[in-house]
Amino acid sequence: MNAFLPGELVLLTDTRDRMYLVELAPGGQFHTHNGVLAHDAVIGRHAGVVLYTSGGARITAFRPRLADFVRKMPRAATVLYPKDVGPVLVYGDIGPGCTVVEAGTGSGGLTLALLRAVGPTGRVCSVEIRDDHRAAAERNIRRFLGELPANLELVAGDVGAHLASLRADRIVLDLPEPWSVADAAAEALAGGGLWVSYVPTVPQVGETVTALRRAGRYADIETFEILLRTWHVDGRSIRPDHRMIGHTGFLTVARFADDARLANASRLAADG
Ligand SMILES: C[S@@+](CC[C@H](N)C(=O)[O-])C[C@H]1O[C@@H](n2cnc3c(N)ncnc32)[C@H](O)[C@@H]1O
Repeated sequence: MNAFLPGELVLLTDTRDRMYLVELAPGGQFHTHNGVLAHDAVIGRHAGVVLYTSGGARITAFRPRLADFVRKMPRAATVLYPKDVGPVLVYGDIGPGCTVVEAGTGSGGLTLALLRAVGPTGRVCSVEIRDDHRAAAERNIRRFLGELPANLELVAGDVGAHLASLRADRIVLDLPEPWSVADAAAEALAGGGLWVSYVPTVPQVGETVTALRRAGRYADIETFEILLRTWHVDGRSIRPDHRMIGHTGFLTVARFADDARLANASRLAADG
């Protein structure tokens, strides 16, 4: 494995599993309650190296995973939790070579995962209505990747206004009213493709699914949520942790179809 380089991000963890994301600078120092660790002690070493502060505190240096970075990075808007990001990629079938339109960019957490999934042969076009959020996302993406990749386009504005001029294999929406772009997204996905949206509340799910059915161009519309329960494993004490994240949001996934009116008609009648 490559040695840590100056300018690289490192995840420093202590014996209480506290984690700190630090950018390595020659001559820099990491201060703890129990002494100082010189960045130079980390630079040139491998991930997983165990080091000690001037006060004797044990620190392990790791390379941050994308999930670590997203948890620790500055947030302009609420980020999609890693437990939800995985299913977005898998159920959205987002892989190498895909062209993805995302909105809103928010803090850029999901954008990073999309970039990783599509790889250098794919493309991500991420639309964000707020300038401050777009700027924050850009900073986060640069910090994690070292640069803005050439296959990422950060677009300013309302995704509804931009979709008309876009073509995509996948549309991924993490914004308050995804239903308002159901028709425009169908145009962008024409020729085959998938819709993935994420909303935190039940009324938003209702609006989204009804709009997808009314659009008449989405089939296999599915909504689900992901519950992640971590476990405490210590000797004979093996049980679920007392605390968990009880709720984040609901994912809705749908496939583009030339004409899905018949398939959706009975459901729409039942919706009233
Ligand atoms: C919850 S955040 C997205 C977080 C992002 N998925 C992440 O992981 O960092 C929602 C974002 O959508 C943006 N937004 C809301 N409506 C929008 C629209 N119509 N077009 C583009 N962006 C929009 C908001 O400004 C906000 O930054």
